[in-house]
Amino acid sequence: MEIFIVLSILYMQIYTIGAKIPAVIVFGDSSVDAGNNNHLQTVLKSNFRPYGRDFYGGKPTGRFSNGRVPSDFISESFGLRPYVPAYLDPAYNISDFATGVCFASAGTGYDNATSDVLSVIPLWKELEYYKEYQKKLRQHLGNKKANIIISQAVYLTSMGTNDFLENYYTLATRRSQYNITQYQDFLVTIAESFIKELYRLGARKVSLGGLPPMGCLPLERTTSFMRGNGGTCNGDYNKVARLFNWKLSRMVKRLNAKYSGIKIVFSDPYPIFQQIVQKPSSFGFEAAAVACCSTGLFEMGYMCDQYNPFTCSDASKYVFWDSFHPTDKTNRIISQYLFKTVLSKLL
Ligand SMILES: *[C@@H]1O[C@H](CO)[C@@H](O)[C@H](O)[C@H]1NC(C)=O
Ligand SMILES: *[C@@H]1O[C@H](CO)[C@@H](O)[C@H](O)[C@H]1NC(C)=O
Ligand SMILES: *[C@@H]1O[C@H](CO)[C@@H](O)[C@H](O)[C@H]1NC(C)=O
Repeated sequence: MEIFIVLSILYMQIYTIGAKIPAVIVFGDSSVDAGNNNHLQTVLKSNFRPYGRDFYGGKPTGRFSNGRVPSDFISESFGLRPYVPAYLDPAYNISDFATGVCFASAGTGYDNATSDVLSVIPLWKELEYYKEYQKKLRQHLGNKKANIIISQAVYLTSMGTNDFLENYYTLATRRSQYNITQYQDFLVTIAESFIKELYRLGARKVSLGGLPPMGCLPLERTTSFMRGNGGTCNGDYNKVARLFNWKLSRMVKRLNAKYSGIKIVFSDPYPIFQQIVQKPSSFGFEAAAVACCSTGLFEMGYMCDQYNPFTCSDASKYVFWDSFHPTDKTNRIISQYLFKTVLSKLL
């Protein structure tokens, strides 16, 4: 009898922990886009084979991977749906979005000028969509229930790589306005106002995502090779990523102290990602320098097509799916690591 009661209480506690997070709400770029770009006039898409060949039903959803992206795994870890649907996908409606919704757009960044490069959704517009979502949620569930979801949901953000690689180091404008230190600070300021705005709108549990070792993306290694550096990682880009992550984490600390009732965590994928890239075999991978898709050197999006004879047959042997994005397996390892070490603190 006593054992039964103890077990019941234990079960109830576990159950309450599991039930605490009502929804996962996602902002960011291709690292977490679930298919919003399918509905835009942009060349940056992935809603065709071989993308998604290891997703549910082998469906190319517009995720830039062979399977799931980190926000999908994280949603599952919180006891929610094993994937987060895209806000612009007409196959889903507000009752689906009540437990998770993705506003992310491949190719975007903190900087408005970054989303302009490939005509994708700027961060401020992701926020506008979120405001529209709040309205729909209140209409659908009533204020009381909607407000509980809004305040207890976990907000995941993941972006910044494109600001450096697609914008700052590729185009001249920002480089003529800011040196790299100043540009990092400019982006941190935008990230900070973004979190403030989320807080003002009712968010209380936020995960700010950091940058991966972006100098080790196959595309950057290929570029490095063409510059005569033997296909190694671009050490300068990695250094920029580490410094940027440090600045973000410092900002997170400051905001946690400043806003009552908010809990922000900094989800830093860099260390685990670096380990995977440096020693792929200890995680069960065979290749980290080239991607699975096509030649693995530079292809992504439309260049990664299903008739390319070079595309690998088993993506789980590869750290990268295309020249810019990790495979399902890499995303799973990183997400599980982040959940265990950081995100579970939001429970
Ligand atoms: C959402 O879609 C489901 C199934 O497609 C449907 O049963 C439900 O009524 C819809 N809900 C709203 C609020 O439109
Ligand atoms: C980005 O653009 C939006 C909309 O025009 C504007 O409100 C916002 O201030 C801009 N952000 C920055 C940092 O310039
Ligand atoms: C960027 O510019 C600022 C202000 O002029 C200067 O203090 C800083 O050392 C510069 N940083 C780099 C990396 O050049």
